[in-house]
Amino acid sequence: MTDARKDWWRSATIYQVYIRSFADGNGDGEGDITGLRGKLPYLRDLGIDAIWINPWYPSPLNDGGYDVADYRDIDPRFGDLTQATQLISEAHDLGLKVILDIVPNHSSWDHEWFKAALESAPGSPERARYIFRDGAGPNGDQPPNNWRSVFGGPAWERVTEPDGSPGQWYFHIFDVSQPDLDWNNPEVREEFLGVLRFWFDLGVDGFRIDVAHGMVKDMTKPDLPYDESGLLNSPSIADHPFFDRDGVHDIYRGWREIANAYDPPRLFVAEAWVEPPERLARYVRDDELHSAFNFDYLKSAWNADALRQTIEQSMEVLHAVGAPATWVLENHDVERVVTRYGREVTAAPRGHNRLVLGESDRALGRRRARAAALLMLTLPGGAYIYQGQELGLPEVLDLPEDALQDPVWERSGRTERGRDGCRVPLPWTTSGPSAGFGDNGSWLPQPAGWEELSVEAQQGDPESVLELYRSALRIRREEPAFESEALTWNQDIGADVLAFEREPGFMCVVNIGSESVKLPVHTEILLASSPLSEDGLLPADTAVWLRP
Ligand code: NOJ
Repeated sequence: MTDARKDWWRSATIYQVYIRSFADGNGDGEGDITGLRGKLPYLRDLGIDAIWINPWYPSPLNDGGYDVADYRDIDPRFGDLTQATQLISEAHDLGLKVILDIVPNHSSWDHEWFKAALESAPGSPERARYIFRDGAGPNGDQPPNNWRSVFGGPAWERVTEPDGSPGQWYFHIFDVSQPDLDWNNPEVREEFLGVLRFWFDLGVDGFRIDVAHGMVKDMTKPDLPYDESGLLNSPSIADHPFFDRDGVHDIYRGWREIANAYDPPRLFVAEAWVEPPERLARYVRDDELHSAFNFDYLKSAWNADALRQTIEQSMEVLHAVGAPATWVLENHDVERVVTRYGREVTAAPRGHNRLVLGESDRALGRRRARAAALLMLTLPGGAYIYQGQELGLPEVLDLPEDALQDPVWERSGRTERGRDGCRVPLPWTTSGPSAGFGDNGSWLPQPAGWEELSVEAQQGDPESVLELYRSALRIRREEPAFESEALTWNQDIGADVLAFEREPGFMCVVNIGSESVKLPVHTEILLASSPLSEDGLLPADTAVWLRP
């Protein structure tokens, strides 16, 4: 096997498919495998290397499928295993790899294991797969400690014992419907090795690991001085009882052995919200996971110093362990970049609360998002694109309250709207029901004017966001400069300008300041995120790819 084939992931562009909102093939208002299969040619033409599909397993969808009831099947709303196998093989025929999402920290409360745990006595082997504890206080009617769920509210829920008496409590970092598994239990570890093999044997090329910094816990730790319960926050203290504990690394060493036993070797991507970057690098050491989302980059403000520092630091610490950097601006948990970059404060906020953030200027946000796309796609390493990012979709901020489905909404006492605004089904056509998403509406309502942002409206229009992405991804695939993992900064153009070269013969200049700047000497303009000024200057919030 050549190194290029084996290491395809080091510089891959991976497109995230939030399957419920991608394309609806059976007209039930929710996306599905049939819808996705129909759009594979679109994804191939976009110029990506792989798709990562959010959880598609049987699930009550209390947390969008991150509450898995059966790790070896497909939810009937999305299709079945036969269709999944067909999808994998059709994607491969088009040269696209397929990455799934594995959710090992917790199952759904609909999982057979959890149902068996509820039907069994305290101390039974069925309970030992989860984290059950007696309550505090004289009658055990207080939670075992004060730990909080990241979705709000306590991280403990009391059960009723099979004999009808008030019973033990179980631990859940996320929603009450997502009981945490006990990774000290060898049966749990063995089960997930089997799940990995099941999907790898079906031809799946890799997994994105949900809450990769969870799983291993020290339940003996005392109460926490908790001041936050937001998702997407890094642990607030060192030696945290349930995040980023050293024990997770043993698990990943075992997983890597399994991935390496396949030809070609399978891939892992960690979703780990940890700080500082050195902690993240521990997940991608040589014998552990292959890569990890760079959330420092996602959280960075649209500011030259902040971005340069994040880029340099990420590359330094990741390269030190032999891993590539990755670049990500959006996913199904965070505000769309067009909206975020149109705000006065452009750094992603801690946690979920988007209500306090104020107005967003759509035109400004779009202009910056275009420039940010060229920056992200020219940095050495892997890049992630969340569905609809290539259309410049904004966050939908005004979903009606009765449409909100994210558990964050209820668990925060209806103070935080949650993540539905970035999960609104995609617009594909300029007319028709649900803008071409499907034949019968969409599970989250699409806002007025969504059709104008559709694939049909944008394709062929050289000024559209879609065509910008297509051109950028074509150049990214063709240019030899993108094979290396190095860049050389050019600091001479201005303090608010990010400029760097990649060898051979490629230069990227991004003007993040408010004044136009002169371009460095070049022989050709390969691509620009917005038009240059008549006298050839690079305007504010514009990026350009040049041939030196
Ligand atoms: C991270 C996922 O991206 C998010 O959507 C989910 O709610 C939590 N993990 C819990 O599984």
